[in-house]
Amino acid sequence: MKSVWQAHRQTRGTHGFFRRGVRMNVEKMKKWYFIGLAVMLACSPALYIPTQEVAKRKNLNINSLNEGRRLYTGHCGSCHRLHLPGEFGEQAWRSYTNSMQPRAKVTDEEKRLILDYILAGK
Ligand code: HEC
Repeated sequence: MKSVWQAHRQTRGTHGFFRRGVRMNVEKMKKWYFIGLAVMLACSPALYIPTQEVAKRKNLNINSLNEGRRLYTGHCGSCHRLHLPGEFGEQAWRSYTNSMQPRAKVTDEEKRLILDYILAGK
């Protein structure tokens, strides 16, 4: 971010002759940059945050769900994006977490917490 503005400031400095034109472009760029950023933020799907309601409905403990989320975001997003619970069916999730366990280097207990968190979000 900063370096982009710095680069433009430099451009304006070295090409003082075109100052007005460049300044207008910078204003336009800023506008589109913020519009783009807003769209990106609005569209990026988020992993759900466990609530008491979900925990109760799934007969799980909210602390385990939070722990599952923490483990999932901490161990499963380094090689690929974090897949959302709704992307796969329960059986697929079970086999994926099994096959990913050695890759993510998580214990059986941690794998179970991750799976509980994912399946409770379906
Ligand atoms: C060391 C890298 C690595 C880590 C860590 C990792 N994965 Fe993966 N994952 C992969 C690779 C590579 C693939 C695709 C190839 C394959 O399926 O073997 C994949 C595929 C997947 C898929 C299938 C995606 C699709 O579109 O078919 C799922 C779901 C998944 N991983 C979940 C997880 C979960 C859950 C964890 C954490 C327990 C995890 N991954 C951790 C490397 C990793």
